[in-house]
Amino acid sequence: MRKKIVAGNWKMNKSAAEARELVAAINAELGDCECPVEVVVCPPFTAIESAGTALAGSRIALGAQNMSERSAGAFTGEVSASMLTSLGVKYVILGHSERRTLYGETDAIVNAKVRAAINAGLNPIVCVGETLQERETGAMDDVVTRQVQQSLAGVTGDELKAGKVVVAYEPVWAIGTGKTASKEQAQEMHALVRRVLAEMTSGIAAAAVRIQYGGSMKPENAAELLAMPDIDGGLIGGAALQADSFVAIIKAGC
Ligand code: PGA
Repeated sequence: MRKKIVAGNWKMNKSAAEARELVAAINAELGDCECPVEVVVCPPFTAIESAGTALAGSRIALGAQNMSERSAGAFTGEVSASMLTSLGVKYVILGHSERRTLYGETDAIVNAKVRAAINAGLNPIVCVGETLQERETGAMDDVVTRQVQQSLAGVTGDELKAGKVVVAYEPVWAIGTGKTASKEQAQEMHALVRRVLAEMTSGIAAAAVRIQYGGSMKPENAAELLAMPDIDGGLIGGAALQADSFVAIIKAGC
Protein backbone atom coordinates (compact mmCIF):
# COMPACT_ATOMS: atom_id res chain seq x y z
CA MET A 1 0.00 0.00 0.00
CA ARG A 2 1.54 3.29 -1.12
CA LYS A 3 1.20 6.23 1.26
CA LYS A 4 -0.11 9.26 -0.63
CA ILE A 5 2.16 12.29 -0.85
CA VAL A 6 0.97 15.85 -1.44
CA ALA A 7 3.71 18.43 -2.04
CA GLY A 8 3.45 22.18 -2.46
CA ASN A 9 5.70 23.65 -5.14
CA TRP A 10 5.83 27.30 -4.16
CA LYS A 11 7.96 28.22 -7.20
CA MET A 12 9.41 31.78 -6.97
CA ASN A 13 6.96 32.93 -4.30
CA LYS A 14 7.16 33.78 -0.59
CA SER A 15 9.80 35.62 1.40
CA ALA A 16 11.34 34.00 4.47
CA ALA A 17 8.78 35.71 6.70
CA GLU A 18 5.86 34.78 4.43
CA ALA A 19 7.05 31.17 4.37
CA ARG A 20 6.94 31.05 8.17
CA GLU A 21 3.39 32.41 8.10
CA LEU A 22 2.21 29.99 5.41
CA VAL A 23 3.64 26.96 7.24
CA ALA A 24 1.98 28.09 10.47
CA ALA A 25 -1.31 28.54 8.62
CA ILE A 26 -1.05 25.08 7.02
CA ASN A 27 -0.40 23.54 10.43
CA ALA A 28 -3.35 25.40 11.94
CA GLU A 29 -5.61 24.34 9.07
CA LEU A 30 -4.46 20.71 9.38
CA GLY A 31 -5.37 20.84 13.06
CA ASP A 32 -5.38 17.35 14.52
CA CYS A 33 -5.93 15.67 11.14
CA GLU A 34 -3.87 12.49 11.24
CA CYS A 35 -4.86 11.08 7.87
CA PRO A 36 -2.14 8.95 6.27
CA VAL A 37 -1.05 11.46 3.65
CA GLU A 38 2.55 12.66 3.62
CA VAL A 39 2.74 16.45 3.39
CA VAL A 40 5.68 18.32 1.89
CA VAL A 41 6.33 22.02 1.25
CA CYS A 42 8.96 23.17 -1.24
CA PRO A 43 9.78 26.86 -0.64
CA PRO A 44 12.39 28.79 -2.65
CA PHE A 45 15.97 28.31 -1.35
CA THR A 46 15.90 31.60 0.56
CA ALA A 47 12.86 30.53 2.61
CA ILE A 48 13.82 26.92 3.32
CA GLU A 49 15.40 27.67 6.68
CA SER A 50 12.51 29.73 8.02
CA ALA A 51 9.95 27.23 6.72
CA GLY A 52 12.00 24.47 8.37
CA THR A 53 11.94 26.25 11.71
CA ALA A 54 8.19 26.79 11.44
CA LEU A 55 7.42 23.16 10.60
CA ALA A 56 9.67 21.61 13.26
CA GLY A 57 7.77 18.98 15.22
CA SER A 58 4.83 18.97 12.79
CA ARG A 59 3.86 16.35 10.21
CA ILE A 60 5.06 18.57 7.35
CA ALA A 61 8.31 17.63 5.60
CA LEU A 62 10.66 20.02 3.86
CA GLY A 63 11.47 20.00 0.15
CA ALA A 64 13.43 22.09 -2.35
CA GLN A 65 12.66 22.92 -5.98
CA ASN A 66 16.02 22.23 -7.61
CA MET A 67 19.67 21.53 -6.82
CA SER A 68 23.02 21.18 -8.54
CA GLU A 69 24.28 17.83 -9.79
CA ARG A 70 27.73 18.82 -8.41
CA SER A 71 28.81 18.44 -4.83
CA ALA A 72 30.84 21.65 -4.27
CA GLY A 73 33.16 24.12 -5.94
CA ALA A 74 33.21 27.01 -8.39
CA PHE A 75 29.61 26.88 -9.61
CA THR A 76 28.28 30.38 -9.04
CA GLY A 77 24.62 30.51 -8.14
CA GLU A 78 24.25 26.79 -7.52
CA VAL A 79 23.13 24.92 -4.39
CA SER A 80 24.31 21.40 -3.54
CA ALA A 81 22.44 18.41 -2.16
CA SER A 82 24.37 18.49 1.12
CA MET A 83 23.51 22.18 1.60
CA LEU A 84 19.87 21.13 1.40
CA THR A 85 20.19 18.17 3.76
CA SER A 86 21.98 20.44 6.24
CA LEU A 87 18.72 22.41 6.50
CA GLY A 88 16.64 19.30 7.06
CA VAL A 89 15.42 19.02 3.48
CA LYS A 90 14.07 15.56 2.63
CA TYR A 91 12.68 15.93 -0.90
CA VAL A 92 13.86 17.80 -3.98
CA ILE A 93 11.83 18.48 -7.12
CA LEU A 94 13.96 17.71 -10.19
CA GLY A 95 13.27 18.22 -13.88
CA HIS A 96 10.21 20.38 -13.44
CA SER A 97 8.93 21.45 -16.88
CA GLU A 98 9.82 25.07 -16.07
CA ARG A 99 13.43 23.97 -15.48
CA ARG A 100 13.38 21.91 -18.66
CA THR A 101 11.89 24.59 -20.94
CA LEU A 102 13.14 27.87 -19.41
CA TYR A 103 16.57 26.72 -18.18
CA GLY A 104 17.48 24.05 -20.71
CA GLU A 105 17.55 21.05 -18.38
CA THR A 106 17.87 17.86 -20.39
CA ASP A 107 17.05 14.33 -19.29
CA ALA A 108 20.80 13.76 -18.90
CA ILE A 109 21.11 16.71 -16.50
CA VAL A 110 18.03 15.59 -14.58
CA ASN A 111 19.51 12.10 -14.34
CA ALA A 112 22.80 13.45 -12.93
CA LYS A 113 20.82 15.41 -10.34
CA VAL A 114 18.74 12.34 -9.44
CA ARG A 115 21.95 10.40 -8.82
CA ALA A 116 23.47 13.21 -6.73
CA ALA A 117 20.27 13.56 -4.70
CA ILE A 118 19.98 9.86 -3.89
CA ASN A 119 23.68 9.67 -3.01
CA ALA A 120 23.21 12.55 -0.56
CA GLY A 121 20.17 10.92 1.07
CA LEU A 122 17.61 13.21 -0.57
CA ASN A 123 14.46 11.85 -2.20
CA PRO A 124 13.99 13.27 -5.68
CA ILE A 125 10.52 14.11 -7.01
CA VAL A 126 11.20 13.63 -10.71
CA CYS A 127 8.85 15.48 -13.05
CA VAL A 128 7.82 14.23 -16.47
CA GLY A 129 5.03 15.27 -18.83
CA GLU A 130 4.14 16.13 -22.39
CA THR A 131 3.36 19.50 -24.00
CA LEU A 132 0.02 20.28 -25.64
CA GLN A 133 1.54 19.79 -29.09
CA GLU A 134 2.94 16.41 -28.08
CA ARG A 135 -0.48 15.36 -26.81
CA GLU A 136 -2.29 16.61 -29.89
CA THR A 137 0.08 14.76 -32.21
CA GLY A 138 -0.21 11.58 -30.16
CA ALA A 139 3.45 11.64 -29.13
CA MET A 140 2.78 11.76 -25.39
CA ASP A 141 3.46 8.10 -24.66
CA ASP A 142 6.83 8.21 -26.41
CA VAL A 143 7.80 11.50 -24.78
CA VAL A 144 6.94 10.41 -21.25
CA THR A 145 8.51 6.96 -21.76
CA ARG A 146 11.76 8.58 -22.86
CA GLN A 147 11.72 11.07 -19.96
CA VAL A 148 11.22 8.27 -17.42
CA GLN A 149 13.85 6.00 -19.00
CA GLN A 150 16.48 8.72 -19.30
CA SER A 151 15.79 10.82 -16.19
CA LEU A 152 15.77 7.71 -14.00
CA ALA A 153 18.45 5.72 -15.81
CA GLY A 154 20.52 3.68 -13.36
CA VAL A 155 18.04 3.88 -10.50
CA THR A 156 17.79 0.39 -9.02
CA GLY A 157 14.81 -1.69 -8.02
CA ASP A 158 16.06 -1.62 -4.43
CA GLU A 159 16.11 2.19 -4.47
CA LEU A 160 12.55 2.23 -5.77
CA LYS A 161 11.41 -0.32 -3.18
CA ALA A 162 13.00 1.80 -0.45
CA GLY A 163 10.84 4.75 -1.55
CA LYS A 164 13.81 6.88 -2.53
CA VAL A 165 12.17 8.23 -5.70
CA VAL A 166 8.83 9.90 -6.32
CA VAL A 167 7.70 10.59 -9.89
CA ALA A 168 5.40 13.49 -10.74
CA TYR A 169 3.39 13.27 -13.97
CA GLU A 170 2.72 16.88 -14.92
CA PRO A 171 1.24 17.48 -18.37
CA VAL A 172 2.79 20.82 -19.36
CA TRP A 173 -0.52 22.01 -20.85
CA ALA A 174 -2.14 21.71 -17.42
CA ILE A 175 0.47 23.57 -15.37
CA GLY A 176 -0.76 26.96 -14.19
CA THR A 177 -3.40 27.01 -16.93
CA GLY A 178 -6.47 26.01 -14.96
CA LYS A 179 -6.85 23.03 -17.32
CA THR A 180 -6.57 19.70 -15.56
CA ALA A 181 -6.09 16.31 -17.15
CA SER A 182 -9.23 14.24 -16.71
CA LYS A 183 -8.93 11.50 -14.16
CA GLU A 184 -8.92 8.96 -17.01
CA GLN A 185 -6.18 10.80 -18.95
CA ALA A 186 -4.07 11.08 -15.81
CA GLN A 187 -4.61 7.45 -14.79
CA GLU A 188 -3.56 6.27 -18.26
CA MET A 189 -0.30 8.18 -18.08
CA HIS A 190 0.41 7.12 -14.50
CA ALA A 191 -0.08 3.49 -15.51
CA LEU A 192 2.32 4.08 -18.41
CA VAL A 193 4.95 5.52 -16.05
CA ARG A 194 4.59 2.51 -13.79
CA ARG A 195 4.91 0.08 -16.75
CA VAL A 196 8.09 1.81 -17.90
CA LEU A 197 9.52 1.64 -14.37
CA ALA A 198 8.62 -2.07 -14.23
CA GLU A 199 10.49 -2.69 -17.49
CA MET A 200 13.51 -0.80 -16.13
CA THR A 201 13.55 -2.66 -12.79
CA SER A 202 10.81 -5.08 -11.74
CA GLY A 203 7.07 -5.14 -11.25
CA ILE A 204 7.49 -5.25 -7.48
CA ALA A 205 9.83 -2.25 -7.49
CA ALA A 206 7.55 -0.23 -9.79
CA ALA A 207 4.53 -1.02 -7.60
CA ALA A 208 6.28 0.68 -4.68
CA VAL A 209 6.84 4.01 -6.45
CA ARG A 210 4.55 6.89 -5.64
CA ILE A 211 3.44 8.80 -8.73
CA GLN A 212 2.01 12.27 -8.14
CA TYR A 213 -0.24 14.15 -10.51
CA GLY A 214 0.52 17.84 -11.07
CA GLY A 215 -1.15 20.49 -13.19
CA SER A 216 -3.94 22.71 -11.85
CA MET A 217 -4.82 20.28 -9.07
CA LYS A 218 -7.23 22.08 -6.73
CA PRO A 219 -9.76 21.24 -4.01
CA GLU A 220 -12.50 20.81 -6.64
CA ASN A 221 -10.73 18.08 -8.62
CA ALA A 222 -8.33 16.54 -6.10
CA ALA A 223 -10.61 13.84 -4.70
CA GLU A 224 -11.46 12.26 -8.05
CA LEU A 225 -7.84 12.33 -9.22
CA LEU A 226 -6.51 10.94 -5.93
CA ALA A 227 -9.05 8.10 -6.05
CA MET A 228 -7.51 6.65 -9.24
CA PRO A 229 -5.47 3.48 -8.69
CA ASP A 230 -2.10 4.78 -9.90
CA ILE A 231 -2.38 8.37 -8.64
CA ASP A 232 -0.54 8.50 -5.34
CA GLY A 233 -0.61 12.19 -4.55
CA GLY A 234 -0.24 15.63 -6.02
CA LEU A 235 2.42 18.22 -6.82
CA ILE A 236 0.58 21.47 -6.29
CA GLY A 237 1.61 24.88 -7.59
CA GLY A 238 -0.92 27.72 -7.40
CA ALA A 239 -3.24 26.05 -4.89
CA ALA A 240 -0.31 25.42 -2.50
CA LEU A 241 0.17 29.14 -1.88
CA GLN A 242 -2.90 29.37 0.37
CA ALA A 243 -3.25 27.18 3.44
CA ASP A 244 -6.96 26.50 2.96
CA SER A 245 -6.75 25.20 -0.61
CA PHE A 246 -3.54 23.22 0.07
CA VAL A 247 -5.03 21.53 3.13
CA ALA A 248 -8.30 20.85 1.30
CA ILE A 249 -6.29 18.92 -1.30
CA ILE A 250 -4.45 16.98 1.43
CA LYS A 251 -7.76 16.08 3.06
CA ALA A 252 -9.15 14.98 -0.32
CA GLY A 253 -6.47 12.30 -0.27
CA CYS A 254 -7.37 11.01 3.19
P1 PGA B 1 -0.06 24.32 -10.83
O1 PGA B 1 1.51 23.89 -10.85
O2 PGA B 1 -0.70 23.50 -9.73
O3 PGA B 1 -0.06 25.77 -10.55
O4 PGA B 1 -0.62 23.96 -12.17
C1 PGA B 1 1.92 22.58 -10.65
C2 PGA B 1 3.43 22.49 -10.82
O5 PGA B 1 3.98 23.20 -11.67
O6 PGA B 1 4.12 21.72 -10.10
